Amino acid sequence: MSQQQWTAVDRYITDLFVPDDPVLEAALEVSTASGLPPHNVSPNQGKLLMLLAQLRGARTILEIGTLGGYSTIWLARALPADGHLISLEFNPKHAEVARANIARARLQAKVEVRVGRAIDTLPLLEQEGHSSFDLIFIDADKPSNPDYLAWALKLAHPGTLIIGDNVVRDGAVIDATSTDPNVQGIRRFNELMAAEPRLSATAIQTVGSKGYDGFALAIVSPS
Ligand code: SAH
Ligand code: DHB
Ligand code: MG
Repeated sequence: MSQQQWTAVDRYITDLFVPDDPVLEAALEVSTASGLPPHNVSPNQGKLLMLLAQLRGARTILEIGTLGGYSTIWLARALPADGHLISLEFNPKHAEVARANIARARLQAKVEVRVGRAIDTLPLLEQEGHSSFDLIFIDADKPSNPDYLAWALKLAHPGTLIIGDNVVRDGAVIDATSTDPNVQGIRRFNELMAAEPRLSATAIQTVGSKGYDGFALAIVSPS
């Protein structure tokens, strides 16, 4: 099994299940042209995020890590007319590209991109009374994942779906002695999710056009 094969099968899946979508394609093209790194979820992963948000019946979504707004657009498409998504992004240039992409997708009324370090903007959300998100997608700087999980629990309610991206990292996650702060952040994140009595969680390995990685899923238990 090779990256070439994973990419070819992802293309097969995407051709079947994610038909031509000029708005999403433009979001990626503009992101690349603006020099953003290709760290967006793949098309079929994006659609999975949308389906999960629909399954959850999410009306309010929090995303940590916007980049060019690719996953943001997928998630926001699951929202009802009065739904709302807040996405947190450190890099002002990424946020600017994302806002343009979100506007092209005609989602600007439902989506707010907030600039700043998430660890600084998360407490502001709580102060403003945004304390009850139905779905929280964690996909920013991995060393901060343990902090983001703590904030996700604060800003959640029973039934909230918490999703973490990039929890396998080419299998590096099993190396307890890794000196990579990304790996250590993800390991701690996974351990905290597993040990948290308020969560029922699992993780899934994935292969595809984005390589070998995985995502974690957790539901906040009924109180
Ligand atoms: N969710 C996006 C990909 C996000 S990539 C998608 O799938 O389309 C990770 C993003 O997190 C980058 O844009 C990076 O600038 C941002 N980021 C890094 N550190 C951050 C921090 N401390 N606070 C908020 N965002 C951060
Ligand atoms: C990286 C970050 C991501 O969120 C992702 O999906 C892929 C790669 C990275 O930092 O390398
Ligand atoms: Mg990611």
